[in-house]
Amino acid sequence: MLITHHAEARAVLSDSRYVPPPVPQDGEPGTLAWLRAQVSRFSTGDTHAERRRLVVERLSALDPAALRTAARTATEERGGDWRGVPTAVLGAALGVRDTSAVPAAASGYLSGEGGPQADAAVAELVELTDLPAVTLLLQGHAATEALIENALAHARPGDDPEAVLHETLRQDPPLKAGRRLDTRTGEEVTIDLVAANRDPEVFPDPARFDVTRGPAPHLTFGDGLRPCPAPAHALALAAGVLDALLGGTGR
Ligand code: HEM
Repeated sequence: MLITHHAEARAVLSDSRYVPPPVPQDGEPGTLAWLRAQVSRFSTGDTHAERRRLVVERLSALDPAALRTAARTATEERGGDWRGVPTAVLGAALGVRDTSAVPAAASGYLSGEGGPQADAAVAELVELTDLPAVTLLLQGHAATEALIENALAHARPGDDPEAVLHETLRQDPPLKAGRRLDTRTGEEVTIDLVAANRDPEVFPDPARFDVTRGPAPHLTFGDGLRPCPAPAHALALAAGVLDALLGGTGR
């Protein structure tokens, strides 16, 4: 089933009968498949609640304003070469000095399509730090970089970084779809985030990229029972990079 309406998407995301499609639980320890079986994102029930509690606790020690400043400084120091900056800044805040293995590990994190390189990268990361930190680094990496890339394609000189990011999240989301399994029927449900974020019943003139729209009730960070726990951190990391590239104040 494909869901394109905002209200219907919210209803599914708030209904415990719809769960993330389960992932295989029999991966060799230290591999990508094993990691996917350990993280909150793909788990349900009490296991999900406990794993989510641990990542939320870890996030609560991080200050989004400090992440923004650090992302700006790092981008400036690298002469505008911003790739890897959000993950390096997040890693440093989590006490992980070397985040070079994150891109390879993150590449198959959502799809499960890994390979020896992804497995080696996961093994390297779990040697370096604990599971909540690995979860946060892998969850954040690709989506935050895609958000920055999309925002840069829309930004005009003088635009406020935060305004561009809010409207990019709605109109050109870094994640295009969410998935759930209906536990009653076994049917897979795909939530089309691009369509739901342009539902004319919620967003006037929905196709238009309008930086004056402000924070809108888009579903890009999820909704309901298990939304992204880190929208403020993601926005701060992305805004810091844009502060450096667009000349924003960062304040
Ligand atoms: C633009 C960037 C980001 C977007 C669009 C995004 C989006 C999402 C969405 C939609 C979910 C829920 C998935 C579902 O409903 O099944 C999610 C979960 C999650 N996100 Fe984000 N995210 C972003 C950045 C980050 C960052 C930077 C972090 C870490 C600092 C993070 C940590 C997490 C975690 C730990 C979960 C799993 C929550 C759970 O299992 O309950 N995300 N994210």
